[in-house]
Amino acid sequence: MQNSAPCKSRKFSRRSLLFAGLLALLYPFFTFIGYTVPRKPKKLYVNKPLPLNGVLVNNDYILFDRGNSSWALSRRCTHLGCKINFHEQEDYLECPCHQSRFTVEGNVIKGPAKDSLTVYPVEKKDSEPFYTIST
Ligand code: FES
Repeated sequence: MQNSAPCKSRKFSRRSLLFAGLLALLYPFFTFIGYTVPRKPKKLYVNKPLPLNGVLVNNDYILFDRGNSSWALSRRCTHLGCKINFHEQEDYLECPCHQSRFTVEGNVIKGPAKDSLTVYPVEKKDSEPFYTIST
């Protein structure tokens, strides 16, 4: 006795393979035209008040709270992506790889980096979470 029912999983598999192949063919085209899938913004919460100097250095960002404004900067250098450090005494940021320097607002003081650091918007509150950073 033969089984005459069509095998659905095989048909589905062939269609998915065709779709994946089509995407693989189109990927270089989308890369060439500069299309990227927009990523979902990520929220980071700081659940404690900042130290007296108004600076919190984290693994991915540096949070500043000075005067009436607060902002966060990405620690990723805009030259080749090394992790920048905050020099508290001199009040600037410096990349350890090629010594690019940035102001605490993220602007370039000295190259080779040409672009400013990424500034993340920060929402400040009087209760927890004290700071919400949108990256
Ligand atoms: S990677 Fe930062 S200056 Fe080159």
